[in-house]
Amino acid sequence: MHEGKGQFFYGAAVATVLITAPKIADEAMEMLLGRGMRVLTMPLTASPDDLASRMAAENPDAVISRTVRVDAHAIMAAPRLKVISKYGVGFDNIDIAAATARGVPVTVTRDANSQSVAELTIGLMLALSRRVVTFDRDIREGRWDRISIMGVELSGGVLGVVGFGAIGRRVAPIARAIGMRVHAFDPLLPEGVIPEDVVRHRILEDLLSAADVVSLHCPLDSSTRGLIDADRLALMKPSAMLVNAARGPIVDERALVSALKSGRLAGAALDTYAVEPLPATSELRMLGNVVMTPHIGGTTAQSAWRVSVRAVQNVLDVLDGRAPDPAQLANPEVLATTQTLSVAGRGDVGN
Ligand SMILES: NC(=O)c1ccc[n+]([C@@H]2O[C@H](COP(=O)([O-])OP(=O)(O)OC[C@H]3O[C@@H](n4cnc5c(N)ncnc54)[C@H](O)[C@@H]3O)[C@@H](O)[C@H]2O)c1
Repeated sequence: MHEGKGQFFYGAAVATVLITAPKIADEAMEMLLGRGMRVLTMPLTASPDDLASRMAAENPDAVISRTVRVDAHAIMAAPRLKVISKYGVGFDNIDIAAATARGVPVTVTRDANSQSVAELTIGLMLALSRRVVTFDRDIREGRWDRISIMGVELSGGVLGVVGFGAIGRRVAPIARAIGMRVHAFDPLLPEGVIPEDVVRHRILEDLLSAADVVSLHCPLDSSTRGLIDADRLALMKPSAMLVNAARGPIVDERALVSALKSGRLAGAALDTYAVEPLPATSELRMLGNVVMTPHIGGTTAQSAWRVSVRAVQNVLDVLDGRAPDPAQLANPEVLATTQTLSVAGRGDVGN
């Protein structure tokens, strides 16, 4: 890599950054363009094959990954690829094993959107417990019915947080301010991380049966796929509500629909789904005891700015030869291959 005429080169070519979205925050884009980098974008609706073809054609040095699946095929298609920078924290759309095998770090924007997701989580809980969406629709359709549906107060109830990471930790104090008692299940956290005013459960089933609202904030991986299945839903109180602003496949959606239809579960508030966009045929659309948003947990102006800037900074760190911050790495094991990367010319980039 060398610098020339204000542009950054690897060998003979300008450094190329491919963003799997139409845009990121202007200031973040300027961090790339200001250094003369070639920045390419794609529609959010692109398929994994579209991405693999684009990577083969453009051979980017870096990919900023939004939601399009980045599979092994795409990762292998771009020999110059040096970093995949996830726009967000949920990296389940990226084939981590394939990236690691190639020595490509996968970075995340840890904590950059957690406040926005926490606020949406609380908003979904309130919307569901007071049936805000139903009443809004009633009024628009000419009805004024104040008695058929009785809301419930959240105050005094137990919020069960599954996954007490960046988002779970922000949800907890807001729920406590409303008057809820907070319980948490997070098998990976060491002692002393969960505050004393939060009841820690070692067994998920115990949290599920104790909670009035269960809110999911764990990542989607092999340990959490289908975590909330029919058996576990059956342990929840019939009056309880489930909130999922994490990832759809953590919940067995068919079992959830069945529990909601039978009245086995009082309600669900969902930002994420087994399949996105939610199929037109999904029974969730027909249920009155469900509140839905289209995966917008991190979609606020403040979050978009923080995530964009952090995602770009993660790209620049790697392209400039700085070791990625381990806290921002989805595959820290790749650091063992850093030697290989710097031999490939990553370490001699001017600033
Ligand atoms: N709806 C949205 O728009 C949106 C936005 C950002 C993040 N998310 C999702 O939220 C998830 C959590 O984000 P975060 O920033 O809090 O991540 P985080 O890594 O800070 O926290 C995740 C927590 O889950 C815990 N965990 C891991 N496996 C678990 C298991 N089997 N059971 C219970 N807990 C487990 C981890 O120990 C960690 O404390 C992300 O992985 C992502 O999928 C959704």
